[in-house]
Amino acid sequence: MNALEIKRNIYYIGVSDKDIRTFDIIMKTANGTTYNAYLVKTSQGVVILDTVKEEFEEQFFKNIESICKYEDIKYIIMHHLEPDHSGALANLYKRASNAKILISPMATPMLKSITKSAKMDFETVWTNKELQLGDKTFKFLSTPNLHWPETMSSYLVEDMILFSGDVFGSHYYDSRLFDDLVGDFSYAFKYYYDHIMRPFKSDALNAIKLYEQFQIDKICTLHGPILRNKPKKYIELYKEWSSKEDRLHGKKIVSIFYVTSYKNTKEMAQSIYDGIEVNENIIANIYDLTALDEQNMLTILEESTGIVLGTPTINGDAPKPIWDLLSCMMLLEKKGKFGGCFGSYGWSGEAQDMIQHRLKSLKFRVPLEPLKIKLIPTKEELFDCYSFGVEFGEIVNGKMVEMTL
Ligand code: FEO
Repeated sequence: MNALEIKRNIYYIGVSDKDIRTFDIIMKTANGTTYNAYLVKTSQGVVILDTVKEEFEEQFFKNIESICKYEDIKYIIMHHLEPDHSGALANLYKRASNAKILISPMATPMLKSITKSAKMDFETVWTNKELQLGDKTFKFLSTPNLHWPETMSSYLVEDMILFSGDVFGSHYYDSRLFDDLVGDFSYAFKYYYDHIMRPFKSDALNAIKLYEQFQIDKICTLHGPILRNKPKKYIELYKEWSSKEDRLHGKKIVSIFYVTSYKNTKEMAQSIYDGIEVNENIIANIYDLTALDEQNMLTILEESTGIVLGTPTINGDAPKPIWDLLSCMMLLEKKGKFGGCFGSYGWSGEAQDMIQHRLKSLKFRVPLEPLKIKLIPTKEELFDCYSFGVEFGEIVNGKMVEMTL
């Protein structure tokens, strides 16, 4: 894509990657994607906002050269340092030798690693800091974890443009560039949210509070269409998707997911369920994982404050459905969630320890030791399961206990 003036003295200088079909290993990109970057001409020099993936840098440089000379570039604002946006930074910096790079404080350690250059003139910026250059004012906004710790946004005051980084992006290439001219990209907008922003809902809500203080005419994201057709509606969608509905009036959900070979782990699951259900502030759910598809799993996991996993040990491991469920957690916010595990075993019972370890590494709070029972549970052992459920429910409901890491 060639450079395009999107408003007087403000240019799109990004590139398209229309043939990409998988992004970041996990995302399907049926329409390809774009790496968006922008250039703002002020009365005292040029500001570049973000760069592009390294393999597309020649087009990016052509776009810049069609608008200005490198010596005119005074600042390079980097909202996000992931390589799809910082890939051309090192070479841009070499060419634009008068430029200073502006990044968030969290980006400082990343800058050197990403650019492999020891000498970089940079300064850190955050909410309430401004860059005034000639007739343009950029207000910086700290919007961390959307979706890397160092991400930030900025607002160009005179033109009412929000440069939002990856936020509000879509992996959707269409040369017509603006949301009111391209095809229907709503699926890509939601898909992008679900895969990139969903694990950071609280951070998205914090960012929205910052965005809402501004009158916004356009949202210039780092991927997909520029949003200028009622841009507020995109903010509202993020707000809706990131807000937690309190349909349970303060009650918390604990979900038990199990797999079972000879119904022993299933029996344990039922007794744990009965124990959790004793607590009137908790709603217990129980699911046979082999009959649950991934989309439903995600919805249940997201709503659950407590997650208890039941698995037998098979060939020294937990079976695939358990690992599949745990791999879904990559797409969800884990903050404040409790985890536990249990299961029947025949010989050595490694699965429960593995799952316990995995839950801890996912940053779940794991208050109880794994509950293991050798083969068929006795009546007394089922009572232990019931007690495990009672205790787990109380902890999720707020009982304080010491937790080992
Ligand atoms: Fe588009 Fe997080 O990089």
